Amino acid sequence: MKITVVGAGAVGASCAEYIAIKNFASEVVLLDIKEGYAEGKAMDLMQCASLNGFDTKIKGITNDYSKTAGSDIAVITSGIPRKPGMTREELIGINAGIVKMVSSSLIEHSPNVIMIVVSNPMDTMAYLVHKSTKLPKNRIIGMGGALDSARFKYRLAEALDAPISDVDGMVIGGHSDTGMVPLTSHATRNSIKVSEFLSKDRLHQVAEDTKVGGATLTSLLGTSAWYAPGAAVSALVQAIACDQKKMFPCSVLLEGEYGLNDICIGVPVVLGKNGIEKIVNVSLSDAEKAKMKESAEGVRKTNALLDV
Ligand code: LAC
Repeated sequence: MKITVVGAGAVGASCAEYIAIKNFASEVVLLDIKEGYAEGKAMDLMQCASLNGFDTKIKGITNDYSKTAGSDIAVITSGIPRKPGMTREELIGINAGIVKMVSSSLIEHSPNVIMIVVSNPMDTMAYLVHKSTKLPKNRIIGMGGALDSARFKYRLAEALDAPISDVDGMVIGGHSDTGMVPLTSHATRNSIKVSEFLSKDRLHQVAEDTKVGGATLTSLLGTSAWYAPGAAVSALVQAIACDQKKMFPCSVLLEGEYGLNDICIGVPVVLGKNGIEKIVNVSLSDAEKAKMKESAEGVRKTNALLDV
């Protein structure tokens, strides 16, 4: 199993590290445009191998896509991250050109690749990859919901004063501060709805804290987060590489599901060796349906700025 991670910045490197630590892939190619940077990160990570007990080979490459040939899965993290006060949508001008070039270079050398798009604004970047590459929809996966759901579970556990392993919950919708739809009505602690334990106001606060999860970190760190994004991508890569048939919310091209068409937005999907194996329909409350509709309108506004 060969996996390419494009972009050796904080998210790309953390993603490569988590993939290696889980020890399911034979090779990870880490590619960056900056001379020597990916090579340096790869060497540093490889020097963890004996300490962390993995055999995955991480290779750093400066901008030579021929070295990514035959990749089964590729992760696109390239582009600029947001700075404090910026929205993910403001990155579109620079990142669209980069993502278009990266996705076509990957396909040139790995025609059967399954792509995971992480660059922001992520839902629009996933849509751009669809429009510009024409790959089948099961092979283009936007990573946002898995990260947002992990942040949701963190906030739920905090509110419940419970261990995170007791808690389950999912965030669908667009990967943006206003577009996320945390499914509070479905969230549980050991299969009991969290609304049994938390007041309406507290649950509302959990949802609001979740939606600004990335922005909160950006203002603390001065740039966007990397550990949880890297961990979330590695979970998706593992589900595909190991044909786990696990369910995650991912940004996928919808063709009528959830009443939406011609848009990539976060909904629950099953991931396995074919990438997206199934789009899962869950029943939403009227309020959640309205939020999903609003979220889709926001994503469409950003999509309209694309030149495709
Ligand atoms: C975040 C970036 C990866 O939410 O979008 O941290």
